[in-house]
Amino acid sequence: MILGTTLSFVIAASSLADEVASYLTFDNQPLGSEEKPLVVRTYLPSLDLDTVVLSNHGTGKKTPRYSAKTGLLSSSSEDQPIAGIPAGIAVNIGKKLSYVWDTTECRLLYAWNNGFLDMESYWGSPEQGSRKKNDYVPRLIGNLFYQAKGAHPLMINGKPVQNIQYKGHRRVDGLPVFTYLADGHPIETEIEAGDSAQTLRLIFRSPGPDPLKLDFQAANTAFEIASKDAGALKVLVRPNASGSFTGYKKEVITIDTANAEAGKKLYTSFGCSACHTTDGSRNHGPSFQGLSGAMRELLDGTKVKADADYLAESIKNPNAKHIKGFPAGMMPAYPLNDKQIESLVLYIQTLK
Ligand code: HEC
Repeated sequence: MILGTTLSFVIAASSLADEVASYLTFDNQPLGSEEKPLVVRTYLPSLDLDTVVLSNHGTGKKTPRYSAKTGLLSSSSEDQPIAGIPAGIAVNIGKKLSYVWDTTECRLLYAWNNGFLDMESYWGSPEQGSRKKNDYVPRLIGNLFYQAKGAHPLMINGKPVQNIQYKGHRRVDGLPVFTYLADGHPIETEIEAGDSAQTLRLIFRSPGPDPLKLDFQAANTAFEIASKDAGALKVLVRPNASGSFTGYKKEVITIDTANAEAGKKLYTSFGCSACHTTDGSRNHGPSFQGLSGAMRELLDGTKVKADADYLAESIKNPNAKHIKGFPAGMMPAYPLNDKQIESLVLYIQTLK
């Protein structure tokens, strides 16, 4: 049980097919790619890691419950630590590889394919808003094929690494390069997908002036040293774990004929609600209340009527026209099909 700090992050849009699957998968929710990896700092589930893998993590303790109302700590009730690993960096480079780097242990924790993370517990769901109570920990989606086992795998000049200190990561061609001190020596690590499915390539470098002799050890894991030079080590790692994970169940929205009810659900599931209210109040974008049929003033001063065609165009192509007084270029273009757009328009038309 480990306690960490929180972060906030905004999910922009989810892509739904005509029918929304009941779980997120990579097919209905494509994320990063090799050209544009997705990198998220987050909590992680602890799965069944050896305690030695997490030896540098502290253990969370119960704390008196805090009341935001009174600003006081309770003398009678306590909060339990959250079961999860804080301060991981999760990376997705497409369907074939997601992985998590633990910034406390400075090592790769898990690798999996066919999905990334379901953040509903952490960021909240579009329907309910708030995150799950006392459960900050996102769920893995997809097929786990690697997890860290035993002591830190890096050896320097013949000795297993004992002390590590994270420095940060930079992005090279979009891919993170993690930097840390291992027994006082600066080390860089990169993680790539291997050539065959469910394999990994780990690249270690010592960028210091005197190149170190780097070696790799790993309990209960099949690996091959692909190349070893002064100050550089490339290791091919084979699968050493298995597990199939789904995130939280999502509501299925099937649209036979476009209808306002489906539009209302899409309004929340696509996150339109993050920018458009339905009660007339202003947010990043104009409110949907009273929008249908209203005269809209565009940036260039011309006026247009918000009829069904205008609404559909505004959703399909957010940059077609710009409304005076609102930021242009802010609304994302969504991968919506015609029935979905029509449903959204019908919903907006109900908001008199
Ligand atoms: C990140 C914020 C954001 C999100 C999310 C967003 N919009 Fe928008 N939307 C805007 C902004 C800002 C404008 C006005 C921009 C402009 O005129 O250039 C706008 C304009 C519109 C308009 C035209 C409004 C008018 O007053 O004429 C419609 C219709 C619309 N959005 C529908 C949607 C729908 C449907 C979704 C979800 C599928 C959505 N928007 C998601 C920010 C957003």
